Amino acid sequence: MRAVFEVGAQDGAGRIGELEIPRAGVTVETPTLMPVVNPNLITVEPSRFPEFGAEMLITNSYIVKNDPELNEQALDEGLHEMLGFDGAIMTDSGSFQLAEYGEIDTHTEEILEFQHAIGSDVGTPVDIPTPPDVDRDQAEAELATTQERLELAATVDVGDMLVNAPVQGSTYPDLREDAGRHAYGTGLDLFPVGAVVPLMNQYRYDDMTEAVLAAKRGLGRDAPVHLFGAGHPMMFALAAALGCDLFDSAAYAIYARDDRYLTVSGTEHLADLHYFPCDCPVCADHTPAEVQAMGAADREKLLAEHNLHVSFGEIRRVKQALKSGNLLELVESRAHAHPDSLDGYRTLLDHADQLEASDPASKDAFFYTSADSARRPEVLRHHRRLERLDVSGDVLLTEGSGSDRFDEWWNVEAPFGPYPRALSTTYPLTAETPDRMDRGGFEAAAEGVRRLAEANPAASFTLGHRGWPDSALALVPERVELVDISPEGE
Ligand code: GUN
Ligand code: ZN
Repeated sequence: MRAVFEVGAQDGAGRIGELEIPRAGVTVETPTLMPVVNPNLITVEPSRFPEFGAEMLITNSYIVKNDPELNEQALDEGLHEMLGFDGAIMTDSGSFQLAEYGEIDTHTEEILEFQHAIGSDVGTPVDIPTPPDVDRDQAEAELATTQERLELAATVDVGDMLVNAPVQGSTYPDLREDAGRHAYGTGLDLFPVGAVVPLMNQYRYDDMTEAVLAAKRGLGRDAPVHLFGAGHPMMFALAAALGCDLFDSAAYAIYARDDRYLTVSGTEHLADLHYFPCDCPVCADHTPAEVQAMGAADREKLLAEHNLHVSFGEIRRVKQALKSGNLLELVESRAHAHPDSLDGYRTLLDHADQLEASDPASKDAFFYTSADSARRPEVLRHHRRLERLDVSGDVLLTEGSGSDRFDEWWNVEAPFGPYPRALSTTYPLTAETPDRMDRGGFEAAAEGVRRLAEANPAASFTLGHRGWPDSALALVPERVELVDISPEGE
């Protein structure tokens, strides 16, 4: 990898990054969102993108190349002048058209040289976006072709233009991982996880999560990762927590075209809205009825503007959460607004061990907001730590107060389980938890007891619990003596 990418604040596998784009002479702060510009179909003028918070846009060099007028203009004055945007510009290659129409009349070397000639800051080879669920043979064969093209791309002289190395592999996590490892080894610069658009369109956030995490396992930690074609704000928090650094949104314009209104928890049809649930300038100045009554062009433009505002607002919220260390809380709250988001979050939690490797050891706060919180990487990390802690003699683990009949006295708290009292003021044991704990939290605490007891076979344990459910008590090893210390239990 040649691109300079400096990672700052981290949370989960997410991070704030500083990505240098040398040809544009700018450093972009990630996570960032690039509005997609179709040069034949401009809904919001790119010169206005900075109003919304855009530092970078993406457009399609294949469309420019195949339109004689645009081609001439782009070669003549350059993309920045042509689009009226002086931030960084990424260009795609025509791979998307390849996926849609089966063939295109260009190839990697030619299109990269063209992208360079029109002044692109980040170019893209002709990768093959293999769709989800294809036969393994097809996924492997197409990945091999993509890999040859990435190797070729690394030999094309494109000056200081950065070059994308898309990671394909369909819905086969092992292929995605191999693809990530290979792409990272090419010496190219940015790493888009490709062909996730069909997953996005079908709200398959669980499969998207698997694809991203698999690609990340193959890529180096310092690799800037782009979620190619992914622009719905309802999944920005999730994707950022998985370690995606760049997003691009065609959704803001495509959805506006058929009266769809983006929100952080899903999509609404303008016709169904009595009120605008948003405080962007568009929504503050208009009612849905007013927008509905406008002509198609005005309506589309206003909806596209709202869609951009809500998308950039969510990117800022994600960045603030990264700095505050509460990105997983944001992901969890987004997850609980839509069942498909919840599937994405639960898939992320299935990989808590992968996230644990980059999740900071200390943050300001841990808010337990549902049974899903019991599976967060911080809980897993505490459980692993319990396996390494030594205790001996008669040990009391209790949610209540101690007793000098015991050699050692530890606290117990759901969802973490036992911990030495000296750790009670350290993260994550400072977690804010509800008084009405759920079954999942108690079961996680019981898992902690089990790990500590199994790691210390010579010690004898007594667990003072406040009315744990049977499902949690069933997880505690039999040799741990149980004492119900709740008022009802006495
Ligand atoms: N746009 C959306 N997905 C893809 C992809 O997989 N490859 C390329 N080149 N462009 C895309
Ligand atoms: Zn709005």
